[in-house]
Amino acid sequence: MKEKCKYIYVTTPIYYVNDIPHIGHAYTTIIADMLARYSKIRGQDVYFLTGTDEHGQKIEHSAIQNGKTPQEYADIVSSKFKELWDDFDISYDRFIRTTDKEHKIGVQKAFEKMFEKGDIYKGNYEGNYCVGCETFWTKTQLIDEEGCPDCKRPTNVVKEESYFFRLSNYQDKLLKLFENNPEFILPKAKTKEIINFVKAGLNDLSITRTSFNWGVKLPQDMNEPEHVVYVWLDALMNYITALGYGSDEKDMKFWPANVQIVGKDILRFHSIFWPAFLMSLDMPLPKHIAAHGWWTKDGSKMSKSKGNVVNPREIVDLYGLDEFRYFILREVPFGQDGDFSTRALTERINSDLGNDLGNLLNRIQGMSGKYFDFELNSKYVEKYHQKELDEVKNIINGLEKDIFSMQISRYLEGIWLIITIANKAIGDYEPWSLMKNGKRDEAMAIVSLVANIMAKVALLLECVMPHKVEQIALSLGIDIDNNQFENSITNHKLIDRFTIKKIDQLFPRIEDIKSETKQDEIKPTIKKLTTIEETNLISIDSFFNSTIKVATIVSVEDIKKSSKLYKIEVDIGEKNSRQIVAGIKEHYKIDELIDTQVCVVSNLKPAKLMGLLSEGMLLASKDEDGLSLIRPDKKKKPGTKIS
Ligand code: MSP
Repeated sequence: MKEKCKYIYVTTPIYYVNDIPHIGHAYTTIIADMLARYSKIRGQDVYFLTGTDEHGQKIEHSAIQNGKTPQEYADIVSSKFKELWDDFDISYDRFIRTTDKEHKIGVQKAFEKMFEKGDIYKGNYEGNYCVGCETFWTKTQLIDEEGCPDCKRPTNVVKEESYFFRLSNYQDKLLKLFENNPEFILPKAKTKEIINFVKAGLNDLSITRTSFNWGVKLPQDMNEPEHVVYVWLDALMNYITALGYGSDEKDMKFWPANVQIVGKDILRFHSIFWPAFLMSLDMPLPKHIAAHGWWTKDGSKMSKSKGNVVNPREIVDLYGLDEFRYFILREVPFGQDGDFSTRALTERINSDLGNDLGNLLNRIQGMSGKYFDFELNSKYVEKYHQKELDEVKNIINGLEKDIFSMQISRYLEGIWLIITIANKAIGDYEPWSLMKNGKRDEAMAIVSLVANIMAKVALLLECVMPHKVEQIALSLGIDIDNNQFENSITNHKLIDRFTIKKIDQLFPRIEDIKSETKQDEIKPTIKKLTTIEETNLISIDSFFNSTIKVATIVSVEDIKKSSKLYKIEVDIGEKNSRQIVAGIKEHYKIDELIDTQVCVVSNLKPAKLMGLLSEGMLLASKDEDGLSLIRPDKKKKPGTKIS
């Protein structure tokens, strides 16, 4: 990432389709998305790749367990990943699947090339294999003679004919690579463990399997119909086949990758096998392999069996997409493990986002409106605030270094220092006193200084919170694009004028969001992710656990303290009417509601929202055009059950 090269290529690992997406996958993807967006706004030509890893024994087993063919199963789960990334507005350029035809052709071409080079030979493999990790292990590496050293599960003994890759030939070349490129692996500290692994001796790698057939076949000329390519050779090749390697070569200009994001568990494959394969293909190596840490829940590893897997969609629905992105990028230094908690997330939202950032924008809107009719100009900023401008400039100059070394949380800390300079300047110079004392130019200078700082912050945060930054840009009346980035960030220029617009609060305090979106206490981590079938389907009994009834709205009262809530009395055919507190204020006026019919979940445990009892939930659906209440299409007697 160091040099400002024309082309930038960022990749995520491709995700196994034996599991539906969880927070770990979202973490890897959001880091890569952030880097891609950052490069884009700097004006670089970016290619961002993600996708799914669909072959191998593990996937074949899961497909069988789910009563599907591997292809059917892969289609279902792969689309879940794609849908999630689309819903999360991930800016990928290509979503590759290892079952794509061109990918398979590319893998075969690579196999051929390595074979021609003399790096592949035929032999017999005898050893242990962990299906969960899709990894071969030697006897000496096993725990108690059978356990996988990575996941601790028992391994299988494998004895089969196999082609081998001469990995042992690359031992010295790899050691030289690490020595000459101390930043090949990021964080740099991880290099040592990889060097030790290589120094312990690299065995040739078995790269074909014959005991099952869900994989890429060997090139036809080799006449080996029994063999399929080992899933890691197949999967790693995606990084070049996506660009057209072995087919149309269309996007090969993006190779070598600038940064390939991986989790620490798969660093070994990416920093040993991958460069060795590329060396064998005479191809340039990626600039950086960057390995992040793992998210745990309550201190322990997330797993389906423990039922403690955090579902990113659920978190985003409750707390907001940009808030979630900010949190996972800020909370844990890159490379370290982190424990996920909604409490820490709430604190970050209320404090960093609400108090520091959101409030600064409020102050700009308030002061510019009160004193300058929303029109600001930067004429006197340099005269009165060179000191603050220099401080901001110094911090900005250090931020690129943080990004290049993958210190993403430090990048965000730097931006928050800039926000602090702005908030502090308002307190120090008191524009309200300056106005009172007739020093209008000085007051204008400070408010414009702060607006300029907010513009810089918005440009720097676009890669982290693109949607919130759109709102900030709307309020400041500025564009968020490479020109603006060049002027305000690279060249540290001021924006001459602002026409400020009032917008809704950027980050409402989280208690509001919680109580307005869900009635029960939030338990985002409890959802148990099991097989795809179970996540898709429920039994009829589960459906009938909810009692849904037609209700007539009798009265509606505005809850002044809340931007979203109404207190609603409904008639659901009982002796007394029921009170429901619902977050629909932004979507309906009071008189659009009274006397209309709605559908109500009537057997919910009562909950208190903003101190008011709520005895049910209105059904509604929400998309980008807003929220609509679900209503019967003909008038029904209040209390009629919906089934
Ligand atoms: N298919 C391989 C990668 C092949 S790349 C050529 C694979 N897939 S995976 O679905 O198991 O994992 C994908 C990524 O998710 C890895 O980078 C892994 O580290 C990451 N995570 C999975 N669980 C995680 C956490 N709990 N926390 C953070 N990231 C984790 O490996």
